[in-house]
Amino acid sequence: MCGIVGYIGKKNALPIVIDGLKALEYRGYDSAGVALWDGVKIRFEKTAGRVSALESRLSRKSWSGKSAIAHTRWATHGKPSDRNAHPHADCQSGIFVVHNGIIENYAELREALIREGHSFLSETDTEILAHLFERPFLSAGQIFLEDAVLEGLRHVNGTFGLAVISKHDPEKIVVARRGSPIILGIGDGEYLVASDASAVVGITKNVIYLHDNEAAVLTPSKMEIFSTLGGSAFGGNLSKKTLQKPIDKIDWDISEAQKSGHPHFMRKEIFEGPSALENVLLGRLLEEGSAKLGGIVAVRDRLLQAKKIIISACGTSYYAGLVGKYYFEELAKIPASVEYASEFRYSNPVIDPDTVAIFVSQSGETADTLEALREAKKRGALTLGVVNVVGSTIARESDAGIYNHAGPEIGVASTKAFISQLGALVLLALFLGRERGAVSDVLGQKLVMELKALPAKMKKVLAGDAGVKKLAEKYSKYKNFLYLGRKYNFPVALEGALKLKEISYRHAEGYASGEMKHGPIALIDENFPTVALAPKDPVYEKILSNIQEIKARNGRVLAVATEGDEKIGKLADDVIFIPQTLEMLTPILSVIPLQLFAYHTAALLGLDVDKPRNLAKSVTVE
Ligand code: M6R
Repeated sequence: MCGIVGYIGKKNALPIVIDGLKALEYRGYDSAGVALWDGVKIRFEKTAGRVSALESRLSRKSWSGKSAIAHTRWATHGKPSDRNAHPHADCQSGIFVVHNGIIENYAELREALIREGHSFLSETDTEILAHLFERPFLSAGQIFLEDAVLEGLRHVNGTFGLAVISKHDPEKIVVARRGSPIILGIGDGEYLVASDASAVVGITKNVIYLHDNEAAVLTPSKMEIFSTLGGSAFGGNLSKKTLQKPIDKIDWDISEAQKSGHPHFMRKEIFEGPSALENVLLGRLLEEGSAKLGGIVAVRDRLLQAKKIIISACGTSYYAGLVGKYYFEELAKIPASVEYASEFRYSNPVIDPDTVAIFVSQSGETADTLEALREAKKRGALTLGVVNVVGSTIARESDAGIYNHAGPEIGVASTKAFISQLGALVLLALFLGRERGAVSDVLGQKLVMELKALPAKMKKVLAGDAGVKKLAEKYSKYKNFLYLGRKYNFPVALEGALKLKEISYRHAEGYASGEMKHGPIALIDENFPTVALAPKDPVYEKILSNIQEIKARNGRVLAVATEGDEKIGKLADDVIFIPQTLEMLTPILSVIPLQLFAYHTAALLGLDVDKPRNLAKSVTVE
């Protein structure tokens, strides 16, 4: 995820913001840059690659100045490159912007700005902002930078946390927030801005958290925070209401700050699930009950003619693909199959030009998935990537695709990426279903409404974290587990078992519950507990029968069930409840307790949760 840091005060700002960028490196990034007001002009430097590369370029210059903004970029629009790195500037290089978030209407704004005569150097959505902030200076002449920023933001849909400096109104940093975190640091005769507390704790522990639709002006001598008046914030008019906000004290050290107070990245990322879903849906849901996916527009016609879909991936991404198969068959009425990428590449697959091959990968670099993609391309399929890391090899080599926008995932165990993969796949299936006439207006609208409601329901599941921890304590003595699910929740059973085994080193098997009596039932006894996914859906009664079969053999059962289900409590030993949702969306809720259960089990056992033995985050060898 991108990182922002800015400084204004008595000291040389450059080394301070570079240190801030280093503190943000843990978030993952692909490029870095800085802009500095040296008292006469704005100097800037940016580069693809590491902060150390930026530092080595800067070491050849003897710049100094009292205010600077800096950024680490995690690509969303446009590949990682020097040009796409932040800061971005307007036509006259008079205004420099660093930005986190996504500008949804950037394509329309870019076209409109080009028609007005603005020219662009990068492929980013952020560059739009610099040109939007330039317009008031062109029309009104001398105005305050904050007024130009607020005027520009009136045109923007989407999310932002941003910092701006300008030679037209120097000696200040203007910041604003909507949907992307911004923290203000208060030092001794100095102010800082950052997207993350870790970038300021080296200088000050006194901070103010900016809320959505708030902005601030930082100068060497004071800081003014304001919200905009009127109906919609950053809209309507330019009047500002000054706010007095409380100063908070950071009582974490830097490594805790990087994990936002969570003991491990995995826990932080599980709790980021709701925002991962929001981000993959952002700007892509249509009220009329469909989806808008910019990344597949170029291949739309071929996609709509698909006679067959093959999904290929590894690990957690493969399990997301298994859920995707149900989506494509149920919503788009297109036959779909799912193949392990490591098998697919050697399986002599039958592919023709009407085949769409979808490759799901968080990293976009998994060697087997990449080779499967190349094989499918060679055989003439239309290839799509569902990828989190922008500009990764799978993203580049696919014909088209959908980015997850889940932000970097640092824990080796994939959690929020799985959620966002399901989001991307259901969007694609909904789009295909609507365009092919297989999904009615009513169903489409219902799905859109329920997807919008889902992040709040996910937060409700996460609020049960302490209860899941207690269950992990109770079950941590067992060495073997069976995970059962059916239909949409069969892949969730597989994913839950994978989570447990990879971080807690407990043996866990995921099974389609109907298959239990064909073998695994022989394992059941009082020492072999079962985690049963039993939401209220059309296969609920079937899984209830399986639970009865397990209980009849003295097996222990921990069930995940729908709120209000009174029957299950009489059968299972323990129950975790999830809110009601559409059947096809239950995996997005039911996987959360399994992620938490695996997390707490591993943490209780004192294991290295974020870096389990023998595993790598990205498997770039066969
Ligand atoms: O980056 P990818 O999604 O292509 O990675 C695929 C698997 O290596 C990955 O999901 C792996 O199984 C995770 N450790 C699961 O938590």
